[in-house]
Amino acid sequence: MKVLVVGGGGREHALCWKIASSELVSHIFCAPGNPGTAEVGENVPIEAGNLDALLEFALENDIDLTVVGPEQPLVDGLADRFRAVGLAVFGPSRTGAILEGSKVFAKEFMFRHGIPTAASHTFDNQEDALTFLSSDDAEVPLVVKADGLAAGKGVLLCEDLKSAESAIETVMGKRAFGEAGARVVLEEFLVGVEASIHIITDGKSYVVLPTAKDHKKIFDGEKGPNTGGMGAVSPAPGVNESLLSTIEYGIIQSFINGLRQDEIEFRGTVFFGLMLTKNGPFVLEFNVRFGDPESQVIFPRIESDIVPILASTAAGNLSGKLVLKEEVAVTVVGASAGYPGAYRKGLSIRISPDFPDSATLFHAGTKMADGNLVTAGGRVLAVTGMGRDVEQARSVAYHGIDAVRFDGMVYRSDIAKA
Ligand code: AMP
Ligand code: GLY
Repeated sequence: MKVLVVGGGGREHALCWKIASSELVSHIFCAPGNPGTAEVGENVPIEAGNLDALLEFALENDIDLTVVGPEQPLVDGLADRFRAVGLAVFGPSRTGAILEGSKVFAKEFMFRHGIPTAASHTFDNQEDALTFLSSDDAEVPLVVKADGLAAGKGVLLCEDLKSAESAIETVMGKRAFGEAGARVVLEEFLVGVEASIHIITDGKSYVVLPTAKDHKKIFDGEKGPNTGGMGAVSPAPGVNESLLSTIEYGIIQSFINGLRQDEIEFRGTVFFGLMLTKNGPFVLEFNVRFGDPESQVIFPRIESDIVPILASTAAGNLSGKLVLKEEVAVTVVGASAGYPGAYRKGLSIRISPDFPDSATLFHAGTKMADGNLVTAGGRVLAVTGMGRDVEQARSVAYHGIDAVRFDGMVYRSDIAKA
């Protein structure tokens, strides 16, 4: 089989790495990929947003299966266009991708299908949103969410009414996230521990992937601004068998029933961002893609060949059993100094011979320049360690990240620490 993976971050390196271990696969292409994906496949210089060029490439190269990493091409209709010409794609149609592409749509879907989520109000003009804030119904803290995709920046946590007002002004008035801010969701603030639950589904049946938890804040002790994720652990602490069945019955199955009732075609992954509260698990958001850095702990924990599952899902007929490894996986992200704000690029990356054989290095924002590996993004790379328990997995991951150097490299020292 010839497989094309779309995207070029850490998630895509982890995906390519897992797909490359399949005996069914003769060749992996990654568009645009990164130096890590080039180690396990062949990079193609096409950006993930260039749907015309991707389609042409897939047709010309007889690609048997395309696996889409990021959400934007899905929201833009990549899967619809590929399927229209008979190409198999792992990733939802545009109508399925709206579950991530519009928070308003996602909230309405959840209310309609009885999926536990924070109480919320939706507004399509600033004046009404501000009027609501001055009413008795408004309680702080509250969360202001831009409706559309905002590169993970469209969620503003507001301690008081004044900051909620200015958040509404940022999102709707100033349109800081463009037309993503044409509508806004004002949402109840939920208290608890977060967990990332992924499933693969063809819209009818599903398999649950290893659970994970990511660490979103830039600094130790969950301090500082939010990032895309500074590290992750799988399984997710606190998600035991009994909670997982509550999540399956109360959330996943209601979600699948909702897809059926609303006739939403869905062939891909759903990543439920959950808040585990004292009143049970609540859905914060749906993503229609694998998490990053969750992928860097999820794929290493899957024993079975993932390709039959991806391919049968793309064909709309999910089959294949998922066998998991009993081990724990921990990944630690190395980021550029200044991230998630401004940072320098082009800094030379050195990997010392002490890098442990048992650790896996996943590239994200790296590139080759004149034969040298250099930084090219905020989150530069991640190192995953596996072990029989969290301590052992942490120890491998940290030995690995300690063997990597670039000027100003930042990483958290408390990933997966109890
Ligand atoms: P989202 O993109 O909706 O997952 O939001 C990004 C992050 O904001 C989440 O991972 C949470 O840390 C936080 N968040 C979102 N919604 C809420 C909420 N209702 N209550 C508390 N925190 C939230
Ligand atoms: N790590 C969170 C995400 O991928 O959205």
